[in-house]
Amino acid sequence: MNLLDLLRDRLGLSGTKCGCEIGECGACTVLLDGEPVNSCLVLAPQIAGRQVLTVEGLAPEGGLHPLQESFLDHDAAHCGFCTPGMLLSAKALLDWNPRPTEGEIRRAISGNLCRCTGYQQIVAAIEKASAS
Ligand code: FES
Ligand code: FES
Repeated sequence: MNLLDLLRDRLGLSGTKCGCEIGECGACTVLLDGEPVNSCLVLAPQIAGRQVLTVEGLAPEGGLHPLQESFLDHDAAHCGFCTPGMLLSAKALLDWNPRPTEGEIRRAISGNLCRCTGYQQIVAAIEKASAS
């Protein structure tokens, strides 16, 4: 069993999306010990003793994470399928580099495909969140 199926099917955490299941789309991105990974490529036993952050754990209780607020403000979610993965890739970037350049933002989300092609708004939202 992979981590993606463990999260969605066994734990009911459906925020993590299943796109390609071959490590191409980034819809299944979660943070493993703070690093973005494609959960479809991680075997469930590999997470033993490690910390997994999914989109469900991103926001504080009863609120939104600043990245989520910024995605809302910039209309950066269209169908929303790529959004959880985008948010987690962006969080990993900002945790490591709180003031990234546009190029660094684009590189950080280069493994996350948006089929609605809303990249401009997504990059703007991450840029704004990094400045706030
Ligand atoms: S579902 Fe994992 S990368 Fe596409
Ligand atoms: S918002 Fe639809 S795939 Fe990105």
